Amino acid sequence: MSKKYYILTFGCQMNENDSEHIAGILTQKGYERTDNVREASVCVVNTCSIRENADDKFFGNLGDLKGVKRDNPDLILSVCGCMMQQKIYVDRIKEKFPYVDIIFGTHNIADFGNILDEFIEKKKKIVRVPDSSPVTENVPLRREYRHRAYVSITYGCDNFCTYCIVPYTRGREKSREAVNILSEVECLARDGVKEIMLLGQNVNSYGKGLTEPCSFAELLRMVSKVEGIERIRFMTSHPRDFTDDIIEAMASSDKICKSVHLPFQAGSDRILKLMNRHYDRAYYLGLVKKLRERIPGITISTDIIVGFPTETEEDFEDTLDIVRQCRFESAFTFIYSPREGTKAAVMDGQINHETSVRRFKRLVSTLEEEISEGVKIYQDTVQEVIVDGHSKSDAGTLTGRTRSNKLVNFTGTAETGDTVNVRITKPNTYYLFGEQI
Ligand code: SAH
Ligand code: SF4
Ligand code: F3S
Repeated sequence: MSKKYYILTFGCQMNENDSEHIAGILTQKGYERTDNVREASVCVVNTCSIRENADDKFFGNLGDLKGVKRDNPDLILSVCGCMMQQKIYVDRIKEKFPYVDIIFGTHNIADFGNILDEFIEKKKKIVRVPDSSPVTENVPLRREYRHRAYVSITYGCDNFCTYCIVPYTRGREKSREAVNILSEVECLARDGVKEIMLLGQNVNSYGKGLTEPCSFAELLRMVSKVEGIERIRFMTSHPRDFTDDIIEAMASSDKICKSVHLPFQAGSDRILKLMNRHYDRAYYLGLVKKLRERIPGITISTDIIVGFPTETEEDFEDTLDIVRQCRFESAFTFIYSPREGTKAAVMDGQINHETSVRRFKRLVSTLEEEISEGVKIYQDTVQEVIVDGHSKSDAGTLTGRTRSNKLVNFTGTAETGDTVNVRITKPNTYYLFGEQI
């Protein structure tokens, strides 16, 4: 019987993609995947540090793993990801969770195979967390889905938004050479992948430090020529770096999905400045207008933070105003969470939790009103959907995504990975319901 591995992933798509590489490395070593940690010989927990509630979940999990390790002392317990790039977490694990065998970081995923070998040989705890690394190519990969795939195009972030930990956990922004990205996409297409998601903290600034200069717009044009790929998505876009050239590239190819994830974070100019976002509300609203004019039918999703230090009722009203003006397709909303080591964490005027929660609730209800109004346009339309599988809550229902990245649950007979047409019979706030035709 072959040995098994279990991976638990927190956080964003970058982390999911990293976990696919860890799975690839373990697969190459002859391990098989399991979803039951009690069957595993290797367990990897890939952590996220973006907000405080991520910390609580992680330490809860690590506590639960103590029992698993007690029943199976041979289990190799490894922890990696964004938290491990911060000394406070590594120290806390060493002290409070001594049964963790391997700690590694975001910069040495490619080295995990060697680290594991070393541990198996010496049976001594390994803590290895470098601060940076060059871009590594050809790291094994075991994809989570057959018909869609993540393709990382940049790593790290140079923006230093004052609330955000990512520049500290992922290091300076680096881009992969376009030839390497293209050959990966070609390979995926040959493998039957229909949809790719180009990933980076700020894909629009793709191209820093390349030997062969290439902008994000040029990369989009090149990728859209790859035969077999039906849909190209990308995230995240920083509003500041959304050039006209990128808009033109989007408009010029049917394969590039007409949807963008464009976080605005806050609606008040004063707060945006304190956040170090490098744009103001007029610029953001102008960009949304331009996108809608040049790419009719484009859908826009966003991220919003409430309760940033010093945020007043008036500032918060400015956020609601953007929500009312932009008709977002969907939005991720967050209560500001101070992260040690960031500028905002030591700013005066931290907002008390009750105030933030009150604003958060108002924001969510405004969004729900707007979104439920907006989705009415889907009623009785026919949408092209790529099927992701059966719905988690109801095995009789299929689930998939439209070109605009809207979740659709529907009745039908299609298989995972099929591209089908679905008539929308009932648009809901968070998903559309329909029937396959
Ligand atoms: N690189 C992307 C997303 C990074 S993290 C971007 O620039 O948009 C995803 C979202 O988490 C951010 O857009 C932001 O809305 C939220 N976020 C990041 N740090 C946060 C913090 N300290 N508190 C609350 N929300 C935060
Ligand atoms: Fe964080 Fe800002 Fe970079 Fe996004 S752009 S990862 S929010 S610092
Ligand atoms: Fe979390 Fe790191 Fe992503 S902090 S959101 S896993 S880049």
